[in-house]
Amino acid sequence: MSHPSLPEEAQVDATIKHIIDHAPRTFVNDYERARTELVTLYNKGVRSQWDSVNDLDWSTDVDPEKLVQTTSQPHPTLELVRAAAEVKGSPFAKWTEKEFTKLGIEIYMAQLSQFMHGEQGAMMAAAKIVEVVPWIDAKYYAATQTMDEARHTEVFSRYLFEKLGDAYSINPYLETQITTLMEDGRWDITYLGMQVIIESLALAAFGSLLDTVEEPLLQKLLRYVLADEARHVAFGVLSLREYYQELTDAELKDRQEYLAENTLNSRNRVVDPQLWERAGVDIVAALPSLREAASKQGRGRNVYAAFNRGFLSKLVPNARKIGLIDANDGYLRRLWGEAGLLKFEFADDTASDYETYDFVAQDRAAAAAGDLGGQQTGGR
Ligand SMILES: [Fe+2]
Ligand SMILES: [Fe+2]
Repeated sequence: MSHPSLPEEAQVDATIKHIIDHAPRTFVNDYERARTELVTLYNKGVRSQWDSVNDLDWSTDVDPEKLVQTTSQPHPTLELVRAAAEVKGSPFAKWTEKEFTKLGIEIYMAQLSQFMHGEQGAMMAAAKIVEVVPWIDAKYYAATQTMDEARHTEVFSRYLFEKLGDAYSINPYLETQITTLMEDGRWDITYLGMQVIIESLALAAFGSLLDTVEEPLLQKLLRYVLADEARHVAFGVLSLREYYQELTDAELKDRQEYLAENTLNSRNRVVDPQLWERAGVDIVAALPSLREAASKQGRGRNVYAAFNRGFLSKLVPNARKIGLIDANDGYLRRLWGEAGLLKFEFADDTASDYETYDFVAQDRAAAAAGDLGGQQTGGR
């Protein structure tokens, strides 16, 4: 049912968009801490909160050109454009290092902007889970996640506007994904869309960026965000693993189709059209040379293969954990098997290895050890 004062059309103006959600709010009268794994995760989440103002050194001077030039591996899109510049007649042929670097900066801005928008979506999804989930332990955990996501949105936004100077608007694919899961009245769909799918994508994207970036502020920011994200994925798995045992085959089939839809096409990996516009590239003129470069490199549609591997090695094992691969006589096992995705079934287990991602706790332990060492030295 829609609110009488809100128009059904969601777009209000360029800065505000309303999403109408249809989920009943759930007040629980059972305060028993029955779900011990969620209690553990919640305690961990509370302890590992960090401080966006003081734990990151915002006085770091970031030179966007250096950010691009010092990465250990160029972004696949930049690599492809460089290869396209070798193709005869390509509009990139006359580009100098200056233009490639400028495109590199735009790629960072485009990518970090979508992270920022995705984080806001995650903050809203976590807040929605606080309201709709019928378990007290899950409400508590989602409340800590809401705070985590507020911090993530804030730090990506600050990095973009303070250090890179601007941000892109949300891309239509991400916007649709967030809107769809927020509009759904079934509480588990918020989890499945956000904690299981989008957060697995985020873990892969943050991880591959962290592997290549040398700029110290962004590096630390990504490490800390990643530490929180690993817990969020675990939250989704622990909750859905229990809930999906209660659902009927028909209900599970819906969820399996949702996962299939989100893995068997790669709309989420297409290059943001805003990028070409802002970099001053006529994409229609550039496309033939980009295609030729891609096929020459034998990479074709696999330009983002490494990233896809990262995503699937998080997602597929978690789908197994929540029982969605084998439900309905292995409906998803058959679909994913045909697409070659089952090789990831036992790849990486974020449901239990979030401890290894806890860089915040690791840094604090190291700092405490250092302090102790300092005190001992000072005492001598
Ligand atoms: Fe986040
Ligand atoms: Fe998250």
